[in-house]
Amino acid sequence: MHDMPDHSNSPRAQWNSRTGFILAAAGSAVGLGNIWKFPYITGENGGGAFVLVYLACILGVGVPVMMAEVMLGRASRSSSVTAYRTLSDPKSKWVVFGVLAVVAAFLLLSYYSTVAGWALHYTYLSLTNAIAGIDPGQAEGLFGQLTGSPLIGVGWQFAFLVFTMCVVAAGVSHGIERWARIMMPGLFVMIVILLGKAMTMSGWGAAMDFLFGMNWDKLTAAGVLEALGHSFFTLSLGMGSMIAYGSYLRSQDDLASASLATAGADTLVALAASVVIFPIVFTFGMEPGAGPGLLFVTLPTALAQMTGGAFLSVVFFVMLVFAALTSAIAILEVIAAYLLDNHGISRVKACVSGTVLVALFGVPATVSGSWFNAVDHFVSNWALPLGGLGIALFVAWRMDGALRRKEFEAGSALAKFYGSWLWILKYPVPVCILIVFLHAIGALAWIGGLLA
Ligand code: PFF
Repeated sequence: MHDMPDHSNSPRAQWNSRTGFILAAAGSAVGLGNIWKFPYITGENGGGAFVLVYLACILGVGVPVMMAEVMLGRASRSSSVTAYRTLSDPKSKWVVFGVLAVVAAFLLLSYYSTVAGWALHYTYLSLTNAIAGIDPGQAEGLFGQLTGSPLIGVGWQFAFLVFTMCVVAAGVSHGIERWARIMMPGLFVMIVILLGKAMTMSGWGAAMDFLFGMNWDKLTAAGVLEALGHSFFTLSLGMGSMIAYGSYLRSQDDLASASLATAGADTLVALAASVVIFPIVFTFGMEPGAGPGLLFVTLPTALAQMTGGAFLSVVFFVMLVFAALTSAIAILEVIAAYLLDNHGISRVKACVSGTVLVALFGVPATVSGSWFNAVDHFVSNWALPLGGLGIALFVAWRMDGALRRKEFEAGSALAKFYGSWLWILKYPVPVCILIVFLHAIGALAWIGGLLA
């Protein structure tokens, strides 16, 4: 079956190897969240202590949930909605979490492609040398021009979506896995090139102090919750992407260590991206807590003044495009797998219709900043934590225990951790997610107000 084109999910497509799964899953996880969002929220939350808390969240909450999500897919051999049905009963109310995941995927891809389009635009600007020598004002102007002109933004967004569609339409091993095998090593090489440069810069020491110095006074309770919330986004949890990818994992493969490797790769890239970006920012005396503009205003301004900046900015933005693409592929796969599993249409039709719908929702996200923020708020603060909560509760409390153990232990070097994993998934994980969720929707502040 390995070399057969897999244009449908029947018989279900498979990754060619565990490495294929890890590359595709790491491709899903490593994305704009690592290179764009992680550095800027680290900047906003004062650096070091935030990084440490983030690592704890990844290991203590993210990894156990990822194992559960991959398991849901492999045990059911189906995508989000059908997975809940297959593993409980056809009329199960748990399906709500599956439906929420598909809706979240539509919405996420609609605005994720906006930022990915910006990355394409900046790649083009870098290639044409249009950012050489610009000052901060001009960098602001360039970004303002892009966000203020719908045609350019939407054009890049659609180009990005069409490419994503072509990869997913080519199938699991011939499209998704093949491209992950090209883009993930490519991304790694580009990060190493950028790291080499960052290490020689005068701001290196200040960046290291900022990133790894333990300034606990800068860390707030809201920062801790942001770290926890972001660990879901960055590991692609709660949205059915790992369910779909898990459903293509061979039954003899060790899902626990594959999840751990995926999370490890994701964390390394997030740290590496920060270790690339902050020395540049500090060398040019810029503001580390500049927020979302860090990549598209602060960084181009600094790159424009550096020797070799033209080349480095091409490398940087191509890396960003690669990261965004492998993630967008995973998001579109959630939608495609849903359509394939539930509506019996071909993979190509599923991809085309899914992409058209995403594109329709995508236009307002590119044109209107407030729509963009509203959808991002809904997906990141509501849909992903809720989806993650559903997965943790279902796998820990509802799924058949014997099947759960068999799935965890299959070929696993981590089999002896089954009991600890299950305990973490049963108690601390739901409590943590619930707290993040209540904070995100403002309920914690409300309760605090009542108690005060
Ligand atoms: N993990 C991706 C990132 O960090 O950019 C975003 C993402 C991809 C979230 C796929 C959810 C998903 F299913």
